[in-house]
Amino acid sequence: MTMTFQDFWYVVALSEQLIRKTVLARSVLDEWLVVFRDERGKPVALQDRCIHRNSRLSAGQVTRGKVQCPYHGWQYDGKGKVAYVPAEGPVKGHCPKVSRRAVSYPTKEQDGYVYVQITSENSRSPVSISPFSMPYYQAPGWETVRVINRFQNTVTNCAENFIDIPHTVSVHPGIFRSAKQQQLNMTVSRVEGSVTATYRQETNNLGWFSWFLNPQGYEISHTDRFYMPNVTSVEYNMGPTRRCFITSQSVPETKDSTLVYTDVTFNYGLWNKLASPFVRWTAQRIIHQDVAALKLQQETITKYGEQFAHTPVDAIHVFVESIRGAIANGKDPRNLPDKTVDVTFWI
Ligand code: FES
Ligand SMILES: [Fe+2]
Repeated sequence: MTMTFQDFWYVVALSEQLIRKTVLARSVLDEWLVVFRDERGKPVALQDRCIHRNSRLSAGQVTRGKVQCPYHGWQYDGKGKVAYVPAEGPVKGHCPKVSRRAVSYPTKEQDGYVYVQITSENSRSPVSISPFSMPYYQAPGWETVRVINRFQNTVTNCAENFIDIPHTVSVHPGIFRSAKQQQLNMTVSRVEGSVTATYRQETNNLGWFSWFLNPQGYEISHTDRFYMPNVTSVEYNMGPTRRCFITSQSVPETKDSTLVYTDVTFNYGLWNKLASPFVRWTAQRIIHQDVAALKLQQETITKYGEQFAHTPVDAIHVFVESIRGAIANGKDPRNLPDKTVDVTFWI
């Protein structure tokens, strides 16, 4: 079966960003979108292009669930159909002279996110993959902090960064980990279009915020995961009760711009509410450091092309690249052979 990046669902907004009368301009897989809610509150995504004389609908307004072009005032309904043309006079009944419509895309709302799929109705593929389910989102006892950041780099290099341990020492000095030349064992496997890396013998290398994440100093079990085509999830288990997931959805805007929606979800009991501002501040600080690191990488790749020299610890990236590479070639990565490697490294 063939597969393309268009077969997947991509986040275009937080549900709470898309309130009534809001018009959002977005770019996903190089397609310009106008996003708003129809009269019933369902999210709508249309190509951000007025079919009349090609102004941008996202510069217009929404009235009663219809978006109005800023140029000559044509109005489009939730299906992309032209519902009103001011120059044609008052509308009598529902009898448009010709069927006129903008390109429209399917939307979904799940876990407080609005998703879009960049497939037109007639080219819809038989592959049906639901949006990724965000772990423990709004589950009792759990709290989620959600942040959005733009990276000047590809989805592949962003995803690779979010599950890359060796960079943490140099990119996030003192915040996240400190260099101790500690030995770590990792098992990485590629199964069914996802990659899982598990780490053992990891205790207190969480830097200055281990007092909060792991005050009892339990052995940490830590798992990094990648799910095709664009989700990474980092899971920390600290003792019997404390768990934390950092889940990122990397949305391809253009070839080298990626909008990343990150959820930090944790169950610290009574600490949950108190911890939120601190978790947000720390997450944002760490991510800004990654944004800067990935900008440097992309600048160099733009100049010299992408040629990597790998070590065994980069196995995780090689697997991620094999999955994204398969989709780029129209193939279903779930057909790639299962593979597992054990790696020892030092941080
Ligand atoms: S260009 Fe949009 S109404 Fe004319
Ligand atoms: Fe990082």
